Amino acid sequence: MSNQPLLEVENLTIEYSTREGPLTAVSNADFTVSEGEYFGLVGESGCGKSTLAKSIIGGLDDNGRIASGKLKYRGEEIQNFTDAKLNEKVRWKEIAYIPQASMNSLDPMQRLSEQAVEIANVHTDLGDDEALDQFSDMFEVVGLPESRIRDYPHQFSGGMQQRAIIALALFLEPSIIIADEPTTALDVIMQDQIFKYLDTIKGSTDTSMILITHDISLVFESCDELAVMHGGQVAETGAITDVYDEPKHPYSYLLQRAFPDIRYPNRELETIEGTPPQQFGDVNYCTFANRCPWSTEECREAAPELEATDQSADGHRAACFRTEEIFEQGDPDESLVAIRGDGS
Ligand SMILES: Nc1ncnc2c1ncn2[C@@H]1O[C@H](COP(=O)(O)OP(=O)(O)OP(=O)(O)O)[C@@H](O)[C@H]1O
Ligand code: SF4
Ligand SMILES: [Mg+2]
Repeated sequence: MSNQPLLEVENLTIEYSTREGPLTAVSNADFTVSEGEYFGLVGESGCGKSTLAKSIIGGLDDNGRIASGKLKYRGEEIQNFTDAKLNEKVRWKEIAYIPQASMNSLDPMQRLSEQAVEIANVHTDLGDDEALDQFSDMFEVVGLPESRIRDYPHQFSGGMQQRAIIALALFLEPSIIIADEPTTALDVIMQDQIFKYLDTIKGSTDTSMILITHDISLVFESCDELAVMHGGQVAETGAITDVYDEPKHPYSYLLQRAFPDIRYPNRELETIEGTPPQQFGDVNYCTFANRCPWSTEECREAAPELEATDQSADGHRAACFRTEEIFEQGDPDESLVAIRGDGS
């Protein structure tokens, strides 16, 4: 694995125009995905994960736009690429996107083999036979019988369709796969299988992955780095081990405690009160302020920027005005008990 940045998301702000005014779905997001890296993007529903993912391949809804910031792929700015240029230079061949609820994204009227050939024709110089050969190989990698590549989507079960989509995303050997909740619609056994396949791919290719999910424990298991989002802002980013062992943002700290952890089988699971807000206009405040046990007035007066933590050599950054007080000068478990007044 090299550390060459493959994808750089730089201070990216994305707005949707709505009847109530401009809704800021992503606000100043900033992180880097390197070659061969599995990168997790986590956060609760509505925090901007899919919006960010779609912006990378130029697939925002018609009312969405990148208001500011940059997206760089292998050092080249791509945020202003036209559709034609994205098709030619980025989509499928370089960056493949497995959309959320992707089972509906297969064309029901076309055999899978036809869909593969069409994608190859639009995005590469491969001949039809070559494209089909590559697609057949990938079919096997995801555990589907090669003999079925000429089937129609409806001839597959839901789990098989999902794997067929993963095969479509992989067969042109993209440098990055963006997988938006790839297994949420599947049963636990199938989820497990798909993650095993993704792990095999990780072991045998240089492909990077952006895995989008609300399940932080999944990301801790499968990824090398992550960004935790809340209300359109990146709250914390860094190596999994750093964020897991030493979270430096109240949201990632609480989110981690909201999922079972085999290291602490008896620990009570946290609930994070409230829901992420919808932000209209300028986001000049911390979007976690109304839910954060440690918030003060200061948190509502400006947006905290991502800043290096003490493990900064590894790119561990958090966006919280009070991170030092909470995590470095004190014990967050103790101060939480004191704030809630349920410790005595
Ligand atoms: N086309 C749209 N027009 C207006 N608002 C939108 C549009 N698409 C998304 N949003 C809003 O943008 C915010 C981010 O949505 P997004 O789908 O990116 O969240 P998400 O993190 O992917 O959520 P989930 O986990 O539920 O998939 C939400 O407030 C959502 O309501
Ligand atoms: S900036 Fe304030 S509200 Fe936001 S996470 Fe930090 S302490 Fe909580
Ligand atoms: Mg989503």
